Amino acid sequence: MSRPSKVMVTEVGPRDGFQIEHDFIPTETKIALINELIAAGVPRVEFSSFVSPRAVPQLADAALVLAGIDRSRGTELIALVPNAKGAARAVEAGADALCVFVSASESHNRKNVNRTVEESLAGFEEVMQIANRAGTPVHGAIATAFGCPFEGDMPVGQVGRIAQRFQDLGMVGVSLGDTTGMATPPLVVERCRHLKKHVPGLPVTLHFHNTRGLGLVNVMAGLDEGVDSYESSFAGLGGCPFAPGATGNICTEDLVNLLNELGIETGIDLSALCGVARHVEQVIGRALPGQVMKAGPRLNLRAEDEVRTAVG
Ligand code: COA
Ligand code: ZN
Repeated sequence: MSRPSKVMVTEVGPRDGFQIEHDFIPTETKIALINELIAAGVPRVEFSSFVSPRAVPQLADAALVLAGIDRSRGTELIALVPNAKGAARAVEAGADALCVFVSASESHNRKNVNRTVEESLAGFEEVMQIANRAGTPVHGAIATAFGCPFEGDMPVGQVGRIAQRFQDLGMVGVSLGDTTGMATPPLVVERCRHLKKHVPGLPVTLHFHNTRGLGLVNVMAGLDEGVDSYESSFAGLGGCPFAPGATGNICTEDLVNLLNELGIETGIDLSALCGVARHVEQVIGRALPGQVMKAGPRLNLRAEDEVRTAVG
């Protein structure tokens, strides 16, 4: 399988990143950061989620955020939704696409949405009806697709079965979420090949967290399997509030830097993206894990007189 020449990067920082932040980020600040992402050429943004505001108060302003986003460049604006109520709210607000989510693991699904996996899947039928009436495409995400912090390894067959249900329901793609950074290159290869064989025709997106430092290595494994769609978060912010030990997503600037160096096109301006990431760090008020935003792209050369010469 050859690597793709072009990759779709979906920025999930405004959802997966902000949802773990305790202090409320003002709506205007969220909008400003998303508009900066759009100006940097990011083609797709998961801008917020329409979940219970009691579960995730940080994202209670999803509709207001969407209303302030610059839509002139045709950036695809995706809303994460857990159920029909979320779908109705997101469609009403005018989201371009929805993304439903369910965990491969029963225990994480219960923690995350207070439902069994089957109850979540059954509820997606009504989500599809709402979305179909509005002509809004629906993506499906599988959380804990590479392992669960409560249950351990997730059978690849379970991931395949959920993906099959997504396809049967008419969803446009499946995203494999590595909620607590349990993915490894062999697991990525196994899952990608399983889906290609058993659910062909359903485009795959990979969503990694860098919890154990394997984020970009897993991206390399995905690229070698021909996967051309990845989700990441600005400055490496992120994590699920309902999974213990969850930490940041793979970092968008670091991902784009890697793809640039591999000669894979993204349409994103890396320097501008680094500027957005530094702005995110300022807003959050603590050091964030992104690397390239600190060091700059590798050929951003420095003046020799920036450092002293070591003389003995
Ligand atoms: N948006 C807004 N409110 C919602 C909602 C939604 N999508 N879904 C349910 N609610 C409201 C209901 O209207 C009800 O309100 P009321 O008490 O004022 O009547 C209340 O929430 C309880 O509804 P119920 O269906 O019983 O939900 P629940 O308490 O079992 O919680 C979820 C289920 C899915 C709503 C909740 O667990 C949730 O929002 N989880 C999201 C977690 C998340 O975002 N995780 C990170 C992403 S991976
Ligand atoms: Zn995530």
